[in-house]
Amino acid sequence: MTQDELKNEVAKAALKYVTPGTIIGVGTGSTANFFIDQLATIKDSIQGAVASSIDTANRLRSIGINVVNLNEIEEISVYVDGADESDHQLNLLKGGGGALTREKIVAAVSKQFICIADESKLVDVIGKFPLPIEVIPMAASYVKREIIKSIGGSPVLREELTTDNGNLILDIHGLTIDEPKALENRLNNIVGIVTNGLFANRGADILLLGSESGVKTIALD
Ligand code: A5P
Repeated sequence: MTQDELKNEVAKAALKYVTPGTIIGVGTGSTANFFIDQLATIKDSIQGAVASSIDTANRLRSIGINVVNLNEIEEISVYVDGADESDHQLNLLKGGGGALTREKIVAAVSKQFICIADESKLVDVIGKFPLPIEVIPMAASYVKREIIKSIGGSPVLREELTTDNGNLILDIHGLTIDEPKALENRLNNIVGIVTNGLFANRGADILLLGSESGVKTIALD
């Protein structure tokens, strides 16, 4: 199977976690896009969806799904999104598409977080994929210096990208993230960082992995 076929299979498998009559959260990226295509087949069964990016909102609207403003609701039943990496404890590294801040907000509000990915995304230790950090533009140089001084790795400004929130992205290369929760908290304490791409304090509840032998389900006890 191609990587796209694996993503499509895992997107299809996520449909069974969608609770009819509720508002769901929908992620961003190529795997989430396969999920949106699958969602089209059951679109009348849900009340609506909160989108984690402008791109996802446009895709949802294009298939006739009601896109809901998060400030008008209190609960999302389930959030379905991809990841750039997951470890076996379902700590995620996300933000390759630059949508990490809205993704983290949607994940925080959701009762259940289903992560969908092809099996190449499961790793023993996250950090090989550069860790995205969304920063307020005026703080970019300061944040870069602070990361080099107190965190390590090599932060690189993502060229020609402005996030949906009008901010910049620094990608930190060369990290080995042994303690994802602790690093997430330390990064949260640097002034000028809006969000970091570690989803450890609120990781996934279930990881659906597309593999040659079928979709594997990994859930924490
Ligand atoms: C978007 O900002 C990311 O967090 C994506 O969820 C992540 O990059 C996975 O994307 P793919 O499904 O395209 O690999």
